[in-house]
Amino acid sequence: MRIGIVKERREHERRVAASPETVKRFKAMGLEPVIERGAGTAAAIFDEAYEQAGARLVDGPDEPLAADILLKVQRPTEDELARSRPGQLLVGMLDPYTNRDQVRTYADKGLTAFAMELLPRITRAQPMDVLSSQANLAGYRAVVEVMAAYSRVLPMMMTAAGTVTPAKVFVVGAGVAGLQAIATAKRMGAVVTATDVRPAAKEEIESLGAKFVGFIPKDAATAGGYARPLTPEEQAEQQKIVAEHIKSQDIVVTTALLPGRPAPRIVTAAMVASMRPGSVLFDMAAESGGNIEGSRPGEVVEVGGVKIIGARNLPSRLAPVASALYARNLLNFVQLLISKDGKLVIPFEDELIKGTLLTHEGKIVHPNFQSAS
Ligand code: NAI
Repeated sequence: MRIGIVKERREHERRVAASPETVKRFKAMGLEPVIERGAGTAAAIFDEAYEQAGARLVDGPDEPLAADILLKVQRPTEDELARSRPGQLLVGMLDPYTNRDQVRTYADKGLTAFAMELLPRITRAQPMDVLSSQANLAGYRAVVEVMAAYSRVLPMMMTAAGTVTPAKVFVVGAGVAGLQAIATAKRMGAVVTATDVRPAAKEEIESLGAKFVGFIPKDAATAGGYARPLTPEEQAEQQKIVAEHIKSQDIVVTTALLPGRPAPRIVTAAMVASMRPGSVLFDMAAESGGNIEGSRPGEVVEVGGVKIIGARNLPSRLAPVASALYARNLLNFVQLLISKDGKLVIPFEDELIKGTLLTHEGKIVHPNFQSAS
């Protein structure tokens, strides 16, 4: 059984879906990895490394695209889908909520498609949890980028010429990315505060030594561990607290997301205007609609001396490490599908499969996408 890996062709994507380490493990499972030449170059993984690990390298994407199992980082392009094969397994971050039509196409093409971001967040799923592995790196990178754009310093510095005060960093949303942003900003010596709406997040913020600011609405966490959208009254209450707090902050990093919905708008233009010149805001949710009014993905917008940076594919900016972790997530997932003697056996009753399987044998099987056009 062949397992295909191609060079990712979507814009701003440098990651790759397999590493030499996972290639070796696939071989040991009895699978045959087939990799397009140059697939890992942007992630600093060269063809020789894959070859040494036992992969077969081929020119162009055609053969890997038609493999029994196709591993992707991002959802396939039209062109890639045109070269897929009925009965093939497709595994990747397929972003189905924003691309519902493509779910229909997977079914029409007879693909067995798994959307890795739909994996239930249960303990057993942790080794395959792509959202966590990538968000953790993104949270780190957000602080690195915001720090570079900030024209003052993060730590307190006591010098013969005088003392420089530490930067005040406010992190909005303390899930996987936000907690890593808090930890990174703390390591740099900043004074860190953070907010979220889930009670567990409040405890986690405090356990990292940051101060919690905000309020926890009743039942704000859903059964899946995600936040729910706030009511207009709750939103107004949150805005009042954030508006008061943000005035004194130097750096704001926002990470708040709601699965399957646009990101909540938390920082308004008026709040941005209340910050002192030289402050920097970084919107990690820019690609999902934005937590900050006026942010644009991949752009730096300057308003009254305050910069708003809109994130675009942050994990791709750490492609070597992001690819290594992502590849391992996929390896762990594929292991669920392969029997000891190297045969494909999909455990349809497993909740990890039920949670991620979009289409099978020409049908949309995932309950959340039954109505996809
Ligand atoms: P996410 O990426 O969906 O959202 C980021 C953060 O934004 C969350 O903490 C959320 O509560 C917060 N948020 C949403 N709306 C907000 C608002 N209006 N104001 C302030 N904050 C807001 O979350 P992520 O990082 O994917 O984590 C989701 C859940 O999954 C968490 O409960 C986390 O602990 C859990 N988790 C479980 C894992 C496992 O056991 N396999 C692994 C990783 C995460």
